Amino acid sequence: MKEVKPMIKHFLNIADYSSDQLKQIIRDALALKSSPDRGNNMLNAKTIALLFEKPSTRTRISFEVGVHQLGGAPIVLDNKSMQLGRGETVADTAKVMSRYVDAIMIRADSHDTVLELADHAAIPVINGLTDQSHPCQVMADVMTVAEYKAPDLNFANIKVAWLGEGNNVSHSWIEAAARFGFTLSLATPDQLQPDANIIAKAQAEGGAITLTNDPADAIKDADVVVTDTWLSMSNFGSASGQKDIDAHKDKLTPYRVTAIRMKEAAADAIFMHCLPVYRGNEADAEVVDGAQSVIWDEAENRLHVQKAIMCFCLNS
Ligand code: CP
Ligand code: NVA
Repeated sequence: MKEVKPMIKHFLNIADYSSDQLKQIIRDALALKSSPDRGNNMLNAKTIALLFEKPSTRTRISFEVGVHQLGGAPIVLDNKSMQLGRGETVADTAKVMSRYVDAIMIRADSHDTVLELADHAAIPVINGLTDQSHPCQVMADVMTVAEYKAPDLNFANIKVAWLGEGNNVSHSWIEAAARFGFTLSLATPDQLQPDANIIAKAQAEGGAITLTNDPADAIKDADVVVTDTWLSMSNFGSASGQKDIDAHKDKLTPYRVTAIRMKEAAADAIFMHCLPVYRGNEADAEVVDGAQSVIWDEAENRLHVQKAIMCFCLNS
């Protein structure tokens, strides 16, 4: 029988949705966080597949717990134990899974895999990190910024500084700047800049985004200071191995968030990191574990915002 696909609400990138829709997800997440029943029947016994091609602590646990709290059933899968790992196509996998489960969250090596899965699935697909983006993470990050700096969800006077590699997480921050309206200043080495197309698109959509290689310039008066690992999972498989890692570290050392560097931000700035963090590389331990760090709230908010995202995708 020919499949007729209804409109499906995937969650693949922040740029796919409007400012109003994204702010509503943040509002829903804040409500779920303070709700005594934790939204206990909102998924109404739906089954959600959580498919991992790469390691995960936060994404795996927060999605699995979140599905339970909403009254659904999670199934955790990894590609190696599926026929996907033996050459079954992504398209066939998407079609089969659509007959069993109600939504798929996937963490994939390549963003193209997620696009292909979404293209062939008859159910919502949620991006739980690719080499290109990490939208669930940055939705949790924006929720955390809202809690500390913008309870009315007006981000117009907020400056966010990103120090380090222009990677998947930075791409989602760039898209978020265009939708939520904060200023984003990224300081990256010349050789490790974010994707120029993602920046250009976000700027064309009104995003106040600047790119520099001077960390002092980016962090000046920032309300939010963000960094990430020097070695993303997509770089681990590189053929040149340890040499690549060392070269990467050399380039990124000037972008380390030290306690002295942190003083160049606004006096009440918060420090954020999606985790896992490597103390002494991208940030000093005294910053990561210091009074301005909000990393544990940020990690917790993954749970709340992903519950809101699942409801957004599944309860139209
Ligand atoms: N921040 C994040 O996505 O963490 P995990 O890799 O542990 O899921
Ligand atoms: N940029 C990191 C984020 C980990 C959650 C990576 O892709 O490995």
